[in-house]
Formats: sequence, structure tokens, C-alpha cells
Amino acid sequence: MTINNCARVFITGCGGMLGPAVYRGFSESYEVLASDIDLNEPWLEYGDVRDFAAIEKLAKKFEPDLIINLAALTNLEYCEKNPDDAWKTNALGAENMALICRRLDIPLVYISTAGIFDGRQEYYNDFDQPNPLSIYAKAKYHGELAAQRMLDKYYVFRAGWMMGGGPAKDKKFINKIFKQIAAGEKILRVVDDKLGTPTYTENFAESMLRIVQTDLYGLYNMVCGGSCSRYDAAVEFIRLLGMEKEVRIEIVDSDYFKNEYFAPRPSSEKLVNLKLDSRGINFMRDWRECLAEYAEEFKAELKPKRGKLILKEEAATL
Ligand SMILES: NC(=O)c1ccc[n+]([C@@H]2O[C@H](COP(=O)([O-])OP(=O)(O)OC[C@H]3O[C@@H](n4cnc5c(N)ncnc54)[C@H](OP(=O)(O)O)[C@@H]3O)[C@@H](O)[C@H]2O)c1
Repeated sequence: MTINNCARVFITGCGGMLGPAVYRGFSESYEVLASDIDLNEPWLEYGDVRDFAAIEKLAKKFEPDLIINLAALTNLEYCEKNPDDAWKTNALGAENMALICRRLDIPLVYISTAGIFDGRQEYYNDFDQPNPLSIYAKAKYHGELAAQRMLDKYYVFRAGWMMGGGPAKDKKFINKIFKQIAAGEKILRVVDDKLGTPTYTENFAESMLRIVQTDLYGLYNMVCGGSCSRYDAAVEFIRLLGMEKEVRIEIVDSDYFKNEYFAPRPSSEKLVNLKLDSRGINFMRDWRECLAEYAEEFKAELKPKRGKLILKEEAATL
């Protein structure tokens, strides 16, 4: 079945970093029902992927032609400390959505992660064997397998280091760097022994939208072009903010953060979009170009005052 202009799309876990970009993109072409357990947008309905009966009822009432499951617990340390919750959300929740798609005879889009690899190789293509290290990654890998085993028609898109959602929703690296800068930190400690491929939510959502219209079902690595270390990404972001004179980066290794970030992480999770390239459907742009676009959202949050940068909200109270 081709997803046509009359299609109805049900999105779960749509209130996070990636959700708003997917919601906006798909709403332009389709009728969308977006859900999450965190109702942080007026267009979200409550939907918990762990609760099979309730989420199936919501899906059946809407009669979707496609389900996009974005729901996940994405904090690796939370997942290590709460494995049952991680398995229920990231694995069973994914299985629930695959089962609903099977019952409704519709395709599923599932978002997986570059973190399913163990980092023994530097680069991973779509066919390399996953060997997840953390609870988060193990449960996400189960989600991939559930889609593949239960459905004929699925898209599994593997994202890398997600950047997007802006200062309000970005839970990951770029916003962590930004928050330190906004708090006036002059020296940032950043690792250079973790390698990956940034993935910009706006670009990822646009790419998803184009690919679900092709009927080229399957599993795809889908990350931005190029790759980097956490250090490279931080240097580039600080340069884009125009803060390279004010802020200095001290390189540390991952041991430095071993108490804060105790979940096991691969030393390299660089992905190669081999299948997207070969099929002529690689719509992902270079990570530096995407970061430049994304950095504008953060620049707008900062205002210069007597040579010092402060948050816009703080400026309003001065
Ligand atoms: N963020 C990354 O670096 C990254 C990288 C690769 C792949 N991915 C994958 O991309 C997808 C989208 O993630 P994201 O980056 O947008 O992360 P996110 O910001 O954490 O968004 C995930 C959303 O799912 C919600 N959620 C959690 N448990 C749920 C449940 N039981 N039922 C329904 N919704 C639930 C979360 O709510 P709460 O905020 O209340 O938990 C959150 O709003 C996920 O499948 C994730 O595994 C993310």
C-alpha cells in the first residue's frame, strides 16, 4: 500500500526531541493523531505504548494507514537503573505497536539507534551485526527485531547522535553544552574518545516523510553526512555561537564522567547510510550544515549584555 495524500498517520511518543519535527512534516501531507505520555503540546493526546489495550483502542478509533512509533525512554542512565521500565517501554512498547500494525494490516515506522553496536569497528553499515552494550540499546534492538519479525511492511530508521528540539526539548549533547555556556561556564570538559554521526531531527523527519512515500520498506541507517567526536561537535557548536573567545574546551576521556554517565557506551557509533545511498534515497545533509541551522535556535536564546551572554528570559527580568 502506498501512503497517499488521504492517509491517516498515528504517531506515538511525539512529545520529545524528534516528535515536533515529525508532527509538523507529516501534518502538511496527512491527517495526524499525535500521542505521548507527556502532554507538553496542545496537539498531543495521551497514549502509553506500554498499555496494549489502551493504545490499540486509540489506534483503532483513529483508523490509521501508518503508525510511527517514537516512544522511548532515552536516558541511558535511567534505563540502567530501571531496567523493567526500559524493557516495558523500549522493547515491549515497540512490540505492542508492531502487533497493532499487524492486526490493522498497516506499515510501521520504528526509530532505532546507532547505540546498538559495540564500537569495536569504527564504521557500521546497515548489515553489520548489532551487539548492544547498555539496557537502553538492548531494548531498542529488541524493538528492531519485533518490527522485522512481526511485519512484512516496516521501516526501521537508525538515528545517530540526535540534535534537535531546541533549548526546551533537546535532552542531549548540544543542549548540555549550551546550558553550561548559558550558565556562564568558561571551561567545558568534553570527551574526544567517543565517535559518532550527528542526526538533525528536522532533516531526519523530512527524510522519513519522503521515504515512506516510496514503498521501499526495510531497515536503514539514517544519519547526517560526515562524522565526528563529541569534542569536534562541541568545538563547531561553540564556533557557530560565536563564543570561541569566551569559552575554552578541556579534552578529557570518558573515565572523567564515569560516575555521571555510567551506562556502557560504544567508543564508536559511526553509521554509514549504505542502503539509502545505494537506493538513491539518501536525503540526509552534512552534520555541520545541519548544526549551523540548529545553532540559530540557541543564538536567539542569548542576548549580549556588557560583553556577557545571558539567557533571553533573564534579560526580560533585568
Ligand atoms: N535522542 C537520541 O539521541 C536518539 C538517538 C537515536 C534514536 N533515538 C530514538 O528516536 C526516537 C525519538 O526519541 P527522541 O530523541 O525524540 O527522545 P525523547 O525526547 O526522549 O522523546 C521520546 C518521547 O517518548 C515519550 N515516552 C516515554 N515513555 C513512553 C510511553 N510509555 N508511551 C508513550 N510515550 C512515551 C517520552 O516521554 P518522557 O519525556 O516523559 O519520557 C518522550 O516524550 C526514540 O525511539 C529514540 O529511542 C533517539
